[in-house]
Amino acid sequence: MSLIRSLCLFSTFLSCIVISVHGQAAARPGLGGTRIGFYSTTCPNAETIVRNAVTSGFSANPRIAPGILRMHFHDCFVQGCDGSVLISGTNTERTAGPNLNLRGFEVIDNAKTQLEAACPGVVSCADILALAARDSVVLTRGINWQVPTGRRDGRVSRASDTNNLPGPGDSVAVQQQKFSALGLNTRELVVLAGGHTIGTAGCGVFRNRLFNSTAGPADPTIDPTFLAQLQTQCPQNGDATVRVDLDTGSGTTFDTSYFNNLSRGRGVLQSDQVLWTNPATRPIVQQLMSPRSTFNAEFARAMVRMSNIGVLTGANGEIRRVCSAVN
Ligand code: HEM
Repeated sequence: MSLIRSLCLFSTFLSCIVISVHGQAAARPGLGGTRIGFYSTTCPNAETIVRNAVTSGFSANPRIAPGILRMHFHDCFVQGCDGSVLISGTNTERTAGPNLNLRGFEVIDNAKTQLEAACPGVVSCADILALAARDSVVLTRGINWQVPTGRRDGRVSRASDTNNLPGPGDSVAVQQQKFSALGLNTRELVVLAGGHTIGTAGCGVFRNRLFNSTAGPADPTIDPTFLAQLQTQCPQNGDATVRVDLDTGSGTTFDTSYFNNLSRGRGVLQSDQVLWTNPATRPIVQQLMSPRSTFNAEFARAMVRMSNIGVLTGANGEIRRVCSAVN
């Protein structure tokens, strides 16, 4: 049976078109038990409450949009999309290196507080995060789509499990291996990396590309003008926490410019630029880089797939009372 899903191609929550998503996706175990409108009777305002919390957080600090999108990715890639990244405490995922710069926890907590007041014990933190990631894309003028819900919250969160997250120095082969281990193919990898159309990276995560060192010369795949620009923004012994847009010139708008930048040697992370230099992924970048490409629709579809990695449903897991601690 073919899965019909609404994709809303513009930045409003109201203007949606219905497209048919390839039937196979519905049959995949990865979609395990979530469905659109899971809370329609048990907590009819759930999605509105989340959206309003994200909108108000975004008005106060637009940086929470990329922060929440990345947080959802890091949740899904470690123990599945079960809200495990939200748990505080010693040696939880949240304390691990790759998660130290995540933003937007307070927005998720705020949504949860309001949801507990409206419908106690009903809406999971994992679902709040999945919905908030979608809302973050919409707020940065990207696509809107319907998020299947019904995830339950996990009770396990270990810092050591974050070792499997993709890193900024990963080759295409390593990125492919990390995505395919979770059921995502090479095209979905490239499409999802397009999440870097918004947000920033700290100088410390890519400065090794910018200067000659004992490890070798500056990365020759960087466009020379862009290299000079990055060297000014991130001087050799400067502050590693200074942040630079991942999509130069369009870092706050969800668009195809990230792919266009890759084609011009203007990727900030090495893991981004190799998507252009590697012949396995370059044709995909080429297909996505036009403003008229299918990027937005493909991103929505790939997000639905990523958002269903290893989900807990039914009687598994729990509905946390607060997102930062197991019950
Ligand atoms: C393909 C492998 C990926 C690698 C190696 C990677 C790595 C990184 C790194 C190193 C940063 C900068 C972190 C910092 O300095 O604070 C970053 C930021 C970001 N990543 Fe990824 N990422 C990948 C995939 C994804 C995916 C699939 C998404 C979402 C769909 C995503 C969304 C983001 C966003 C939105 C930011 C900006 C965060 C902010 O501004 O706070 N990334 N990523």
